[in-house]
Amino acid sequence: NIYAVIMAGGVGSRFWPRSKKALPKQLLKIFGDITMIQATVERIDDLIDRNNIYIITNEIQAPEVKNQLKDIPEENIIVEPFGRNTAAAIGLASIIIKAKDPEAVTIVLPADHIIKEEEIFRNTLHNAARFAFEKKSLVTIGIHPTRPETGYGYIQIDDKKVQDNIYKVLTFAEKPNYATAVRFLESGDFLWNSGMFIWRVDTILDEIKTYMPDLYEGLIEIEKHLNQKNYHDALVKTYGQMKKISIDYGIMEKSTKVYLTKGFFTWSDVGSWEEVYQLSEKDSNGNAIVGKVYTDKVIDSYIYSPDKFTAVIGVDNLIIINYDDTLLVCRRDRAQDVKNIVEYLRMNK
Ligand code: GDD
Ligand code: MG
Repeated sequence: NIYAVIMAGGVGSRFWPRSKKALPKQLLKIFGDITMIQATVERIDDLIDRNNIYIITNEIQAPEVKNQLKDIPEENIIVEPFGRNTAAAIGLASIIIKAKDPEAVTIVLPADHIIKEEEIFRNTLHNAARFAFEKKSLVTIGIHPTRPETGYGYIQIDDKKVQDNIYKVLTFAEKPNYATAVRFLESGDFLWNSGMFIWRVDTILDEIKTYMPDLYEGLIEIEKHLNQKNYHDALVKTYGQMKKISIDYGIMEKSTKVYLTKGFFTWSDVGSWEEVYQLSEKDSNGNAIVGKVYTDKVIDSYIYSPDKFTAVIGVDNLIIINYDDTLLVCRRDRAQDVKNIVEYLRMNK
């Protein structure tokens, strides 16, 4: 059987002022009228039974996650006492699903990505799930890279196909520095890691046992307390001792069982307001405008002002977010620096 684990524990500081700790990117309506986590669930609806869709989040975000996903059984919302990054989150979800179905194939998805051509996406997942089940391997979805992005993992594959759209991974390099990213891009041999993974729960737990033995021991300890009264106490105690390591550094860079399937669909992790602008529909002046906005000779800008009236005259290439009690005005090519504001506010509270 195919299961999904949707990871929703991140903070997303580049979306300030819309994103806050309790309301990060995945819980916002960035495009259209459903939130990103709702879109993530809808996208896999035809492929996976709702009873088999699990969400892993933390205590701060859980109430809003439950509120937004009323069709998902409440017991499928796994709550971490606090974030320990993706290796621990995936490990915890895996032991919980394993208790229900020891041979389950899980599709691990971030909650905050944009995907177009959803039919192709589902076919890609289905094909990968079959391979992962039969070959007991770890499958990632690779995306054709278009810029030397340093926030992604890069994957080098063996050109000869193992099966229909399945390739053996030679190298997995998480978040290279800029010079290395440029080299990877120019070599033409590398794809981006989309951060979506397909594997059997028993396979990933075996790999955790091999490459992250401390995490594995912790998971076994938690497994002993599943469905018991002291589960929460055991979880808090064990989780507190876990290291914060992502699955990419902890497993994907090291494992020899990694394969890749190419994603032939539009994909973005919507990492900044600039990407929101890029992915939004624009008017004839190249503006994407949401809310109550007056413009005069404004070009190629993103303006978001859902409640207050915002007037903008004679500027171009700006991001303007007038939201709640905050106003952001930022040049489009500086959108990555928005995360510094969150850091500044944290230090100067
Ligand atoms: N439950 C839970 N707990 N979820 C978490 C935690 C945690 O402690 N930490 C992160 N997440 C969730 C995030 O909300 C997001 O949906 C997903 O896990 C991935 O985490 P990110 O923090 O966004 O990872 P990243 O973007 O830096 O890197 C990953 O994604 C890239 C593509 O977007 C890596 O897999 C890269 O290799 C990849 O290129
Ligand atoms: Mg991300």
